[in-house]
Amino acid sequence: MSSKEPTSPEAVRTWIENHTRSSDRFAHVADKYEPHRKRHGCYDVYPSNNGPLLGALAAMAKPKRLLELGCGLGYSGLWLAYGAGTGALLDTVEANSEHAEIARAHFNAEGFRKRIQVLLGRAGSVLPKLKSRYDLIYFDTDPAESMIVLQACRRLLRKGGLLISANLFLGQYNPNIPGLEKTAEYRLRILDADKWHTAFTEDGTAISVRR
Ligand SMILES: C[S@@+](CC[C@H](N)C(=O)[O-])C[C@H]1O[C@@H](n2cnc3c(N)ncnc32)[C@H](O)[C@@H]1O
Ligand SMILES: [Zn+2]
Repeated sequence: MSSKEPTSPEAVRTWIENHTRSSDRFAHVADKYEPHRKRHGCYDVYPSNNGPLLGALAAMAKPKRLLELGCGLGYSGLWLAYGAGTGALLDTVEANSEHAEIARAHFNAEGFRKRIQVLLGRAGSVLPKLKSRYDLIYFDTDPAESMIVLQACRRLLRKGGLLISANLFLGQYNPNIPGLEKTAEYRLRILDADKWHTAFTEDGTAISVRR
């Protein structure tokens, strides 16, 4: 890896890619997604493109209770639980039983068995049953359920809590994904300054503080 000063935006991107990759403690879990998709034939399971950012946000917010919607194979959950620190508990919702099973195996292997609970089911059916107050919620699942999730977040997230939203610009990959009109509405709702204090990162992730 070169230590040369990056002198163009592209070189900066390359520097970040190279260095964050080598310091990503859960990169070996992210690496399992592509072979999994080929074997399972599923299309919607991708690791978060910035696990270390999730870890840093969790470390900063110091949440005791975290909720994730869209567990996948467990990469983002590992970063969130790791960043939040040893006293924190993560509930993570996953609709696909094979994904849930693989994620549980990853959580066990990484020593998070007691701190991460996988809740099997669609977000829309699991959310109404949840009673806990959460300090941090990560949304990374079905666009069609995004408005249901956002409404549930108002109920489940404490004031001052952090909502991190991925998957809000999936139209750039496929403009025909069902539910894109729901994420379009979601994107605007989190810009309602009476309810949320929101910033978007360049890759389209939204970071919102509940007012
Ligand atoms: C983008 S992946 C999540 C990736 C994970 N957050 C990570 O970064 O490692 C989306 C996951 O949501 C699951 N899923 C799809 N629709 C869902 C729904 N309505 N409720 C809960 N999970 C769902 C898929 O099976 C898939 O595993
Ligand atoms: Zn799969």
